[in-house]
Amino acid sequence: MEGKLCIVTGATDGIGRVTARALAERGAEVVLVGRNAAKGAEVCKAIRRSSRNDRVRFEQADLSSQAEIRALAKRLTEGGTAIDVLVNNVGAIFNRRRESVDGIEMTFALNHLGYFLLTGLLLESLKASAAARIVNVASEAHRGGQMDLEDPQGTKRYSGWRAYQQSKLANILFTYRLAAVLSETPVTTNCLHPGFVASQFGQNNGWLFSTFLKTLMRFSAIDVEAGARTSVHVAASADVEGVSGRYFDKSRETTSSLVSREEETGQRLWELSEELTGYNYG
Ligand SMILES: NC(=O)c1ccc[n+]([C@@H]2O[C@H](COP(=O)([O-])OP(=O)(O)OC[C@H]3O[C@@H](n4cnc5c(N)ncnc54)[C@H](OP(=O)(O)O)[C@@H]3O)[C@@H](O)[C@H]2O)c1
Repeated sequence: MEGKLCIVTGATDGIGRVTARALAERGAEVVLVGRNAAKGAEVCKAIRRSSRNDRVRFEQADLSSQAEIRALAKRLTEGGTAIDVLVNNVGAIFNRRRESVDGIEMTFALNHLGYFLLTGLLLESLKASAAARIVNVASEAHRGGQMDLEDPQGTKRYSGWRAYQQSKLANILFTYRLAAVLSETPVTTNCLHPGFVASQFGQNNGWLFSTFLKTLMRFSAIDVEAGARTSVHVAASADVEGVSGRYFDKSRETTSSLVSREEETGQRLWELSEELTGYNYG
């Protein structure tokens, strides 16, 4: 990965943190994106030290805010540097319905629209690379999920798990549609399931749920080192060169759910995402 510039979102903890470190260990220049500047500085310092790679830096952005995503993209694209890898990793579950600063249901805003908008805004810089890769961290949780295009923000009926499932399904629908849009370019895009990973995931949801999830993770989840393997494989392995529009689990291509492969649903989600972000891929 020498000479490559990689961006990893949600990189101050969990799977993103290990993904960023692994890319730095492979010699890439890495930009970690997160919302907490103090934590970001600390994590960068630790990665620089352990990877013996000084080209690791932090960019602050709350990725549920469209204004912050736009400002971040502006900073990342200043100077016209090509971006070789974008790992859209940030994600969370919200048991109680919340809205982002843009008035959009939080799960949809952070887990899906954030990926959609940041990717679009970085696309010219990704196209400037010889063979850029866009990696979207989805989940097996997408199975059984539905795209409620009539009420995608759960205004009538909200369940945190359902909203999360829908957002991870949206990651896959977005990946497949994006692969089609980019088919005439050298930019590839794939999505993946990292495994059930013992991370900080879910800890923003109050004592009861957090304790339940931590206990479940202690007994049945893989650690974050193993949890980052598929992301690193899809972002960096020579085996994935030229591969686009695929879903990976345990570093192998696999088939995602039937609904995730419905082109019409993907098209409608794309249009809705353009409308809600005010960003048009052209
Ligand atoms: N863990 C699992 O079992 C599992 C399974 C399948 C898929 N996934 C997916 O894997 C991805 C990473 O999850 P994880 O398990 O590593 O979770 P995590 O340990 O909770 O890490 C999430 C990261 O995202 C950051 N983040 C959260 N909200 C943000 C915001 N508004 N703006 C900017 N950064 C924000 C967090 O920052 P702070 O450090 O400030 O909190 C942290 O760096 C997610 O997309 C998730 O859906 C996870």
